[in-house]
Amino acid sequence: MKNIAIVYWSGTGNTEAMANALRSAVTEAGAEAALIPAEAFAADQVAAFDALAFGCPAMGAENLEEDVFEPMFASVESALAGKKVFLFGSYGWGDGQWMRDWEDRCRADGADLAAESVICTDAPQEDTLASLRSAGAALAES
Ligand SMILES: Cc1cc2nc3c(=O)[nH]c(=O)nc-3n(C[C@H](O)[C@H](O)[C@H](O)COP(=O)(O)O)c2cc1C
Repeated sequence: MKNIAIVYWSGTGNTEAMANALRSAVTEAGAEAALIPAEAFAADQVAAFDALAFGCPAMGAENLEEDVFEPMFASVESALAGKKVFLFGSYGWGDGQWMRDWEDRCRADGADLAAESVICTDAPQEDTLASLRSAGAALAES
């Protein structure tokens, strides 16, 4: 059985709702999903997973959240080379630039972006939940 990590940070619950939906999708597709808050994840855990999903909203000025998520991600990204990775998160008033920058960063790290990233404004609605179901199924087969 595939083992998928879902590592996330969420200030007001929107990205957390996405993480929960992704977890349901992964388990419904027959894989194991570990839902892990960003502060509880470290580089030495990467190897234990077949694929890793990372969720973080746009914060600062089109940045990852800087106190918890960014330091965690900076410490794990060198371990993501060759790993299947999926990105998701919620945003507010921007145009998704934080996610495009994050995808570029993952590609530069040598990660294999295993499914199209999923972003949504504020809380996930049905279209976003459907995209997360597809991504979860793809991760479960990765
Ligand atoms: C301090 C702060 C900075 C933010 N910066 C951005 C930003 O640069 N671009 C954007 O689109 N939304 C920005 N937002 C909006 C959040 O991304 C949005 O509210 C999102 O839904 C929060 O997700 P969460 O509930 O998972 O924390 C910011 C919100 C806060 C509180």
